[in-house]
Amino acid sequence: MIEEELGWGEEDSAVYRALAEVAVPRREEQLATLLCLLPFGSDDAFRIVDLGCGEGVLEYAALTAFPNASVLALDGSASMREHAGALLTPFGERAKVREFALEGDDWLGELDGADCVVSSLVVHHLTDDGKRKLFSEAHKRMGDGGTLMLIDCVQPQRGEGVRLFADAYDAISRQQSVERSGDTALFDRFVDERWNIFRHPESSEMLSPLSHQLAWLVQAGLEGVDCFWLNAGYAVFGGYKSGGAAQGGLSMGNALDAVRAALEANRS
Ligand SMILES: C[S@@+](CC[C@H](N)C(=O)[O-])C[C@H]1O[C@@H](n2cnc3c(N)ncnc32)[C@H](O)[C@@H]1O
Repeated sequence: MIEEELGWGEEDSAVYRALAEVAVPRREEQLATLLCLLPFGSDDAFRIVDLGCGEGVLEYAALTAFPNASVLALDGSASMREHAGALLTPFGERAKVREFALEGDDWLGELDGADCVVSSLVVHHLTDDGKRKLFSEAHKRMGDGGTLMLIDCVQPQRGEGVRLFADAYDAISRQQSVERSGDTALFDRFVDERWNIFRHPESSEMLSPLSHQLAWLVQAGLEGVDCFWLNAGYAVFGGYKSGGAAQGGLSMGNALDAVRAALEANRS
């Protein structure tokens, strides 16, 4: 069970579900970018483990784009697991949803032989040491040619960057609110909830600088480490384990179609 004192409780899960389409910068493009970086062709059979799956949107998109893939979706929030389980029902045995505590280690065995370890907007709940340990365990345990690919908010190292990300995050959230519902109601709630992490930092949100995390990924043994996308302080970054036969990834068009289908299913 998820613990409030670890920085995320059921109230946060409920607010996130209400705000995600406004509070995640360019969510469609962000998730599609991650899908494009998975080193598999659309017909390949491979196994994905997602750390902190939330509602299961990433799983839905991945299983749509890769019809022979399977996913293990882990989350500490009971309500999130319930949502993910319902959303992923159409995929039957290809999707499994289970409880985990990110900071624990009793679930690390689930990474053994995984082809893709992914996580979206979750790893910033770990300390620097926790992130380094996760990157190292993922590299050690995943299959040859696999990938660790993350989406997360990252910490600017100077005040200029903090102000830039805070302002850009407000601007994009406001724009997405108007695009989504024709008014600023969702943005107003985003402001009321103090959701802009760069304007309202919290001790339980342990953002680390992107350059540090890229270095830790390299130190963990990953190759091809890079940041592939960055918008309003939210980054898509990761690397690959050597070995295996590198496959061309998805096209952005196919990835966007899969993400749009997932978001549509999640709305209905
Ligand atoms: C911001 S949401 C992101 C959900 C999803 N990955 C997405 O991108 O939409 C963070 C998720 O991480 C989960 N989470 C946060 N801290 C956790 C922890 N310490 N252990 C397990 N899950 C945690 C929450 O329950 C929530 O579903």
